[in-house]
Amino acid sequence: MSAGTGRLAGRVAVITGAGSGIGRATALLFAREGARVVCADISGREEKTAAEIRAAADIHSPGETGAHGSAAAAPPGNSADAQGTATDPRSTTATATGTHGAIATSADGVTATEAHSIVGGHGVALPGPAAVAVRVDVANSAEVRAMIELAVNTYGRLDVLFNNAGMSGQRGPLAELDEDAFDTVVAVNLKGAFLGMKFGIPAMLASGGGSVINTASASALVGWKNLAHYAAAKGGVVQLTKSAALDYAKQGIRVNAICPGMTWTGLAGAGDDSVPPTDMVPPQPMNRWGLPGELASAALFLASDESSFVTGAAIPVDGGYVAR
Ligand SMILES: NC(=O)c1ccc[n+]([C@@H]2O[C@H](COP(=O)([O-])OP(=O)(O)OC[C@H]3O[C@@H](n4cnc5c(N)ncnc54)[C@H](O)[C@@H]3O)[C@@H](O)[C@H]2O)c1
Repeated sequence: MSAGTGRLAGRVAVITGAGSGIGRATALLFAREGARVVCADISGREEKTAAEIRAAADIHSPGETGAHGSAAAAPPGNSADAQGTATDPRSTTATATGTHGAIATSADGVTATEAHSIVGGHGVALPGPAAVAVRVDVANSAEVRAMIELAVNTYGRLDVLFNNAGMSGQRGPLAELDEDAFDTVVAVNLKGAFLGMKFGIPAMLASGGGSVINTASASALVGWKNLAHYAAAKGGVVQLTKSAALDYAKQGIRVNAICPGMTWTGLAGAGDDSVPPTDMVPPQPMNRWGLPGELASAALFLASDESSFVTGAAIPVDGGYVAR
């Protein structure tokens, strides 16, 4: 799929948790559908996902993304005050530090304005590579702000924000959960989505609207044994989603959540593209694990204009788990 066509042509998407599982699958799918993608993660694997996207873009549309797509800098006329933090010159991973943003530096000195532009479905010429990577802790306000600034400084706009990073942490009956575990799970899963929207929505408003997708969980909709903190955080993500949807419904910003059932990802111990075991199947009516690509498809629907009248929804993608 060329970046000039596709269901997300001309759109710029930020995806957190893009180093693994659902976020990685979504980053690859969004890119195939024509989006420029900012791959964000805390793990370091975000650069691998971004490199995969750039390599695929080079194969399908050689020259479209510039030399290996490794370009990122403020487009002309962009007055964002990114001060640019030091980055590893061998990669396009920006380190999201400080309160005024980070910009990815090019390995070969090519800037976004020099890289070939594409004209997407919005009629907007998008500079920069097919994807860039940024190391971010979604629970850290300054880093999340810098992540959003990276997207705007690199591509000039923000259309789609997928607040997907998450972790489940310690397991056990509520009274045995450590206070620290509770705080961490709430900080990453709930506050992370809040911070993404806090800094992402203004950038979307400046771009004329957009779509936010938050990853909640089936555990947001029903109780979850031994994961009370996680279920509470994800339940909070659903309410955050619905409330933000109301706040911005008249301003062209849709806010929705997907609620995965048990999905074969890093969270479940899976490696990239690994095949789920058939001898260890979660208790879901469809009697199998969900696949990262199946969640990515739901995120694509919510990111694209096909869901233009959908906002404030929390959509289970769970093999029927919460239907019981
Ligand atoms: N896999 C499931 O069964 C399942 C079920 C319900 C909900 N979810 C949710 O789906 C989302 C994606 O998880 P996944 O299943 O793909 O698992 P995953 O472990 O494969 O991916 C999660 C990614 O989030 C990143 N991450 C964790 N903490 C972070 C932080 N503080 N800042 C930035 N990145 C961080 C991890 O490094 C990882 O790359 C999560 O929000 C998770 O809670 C997953």
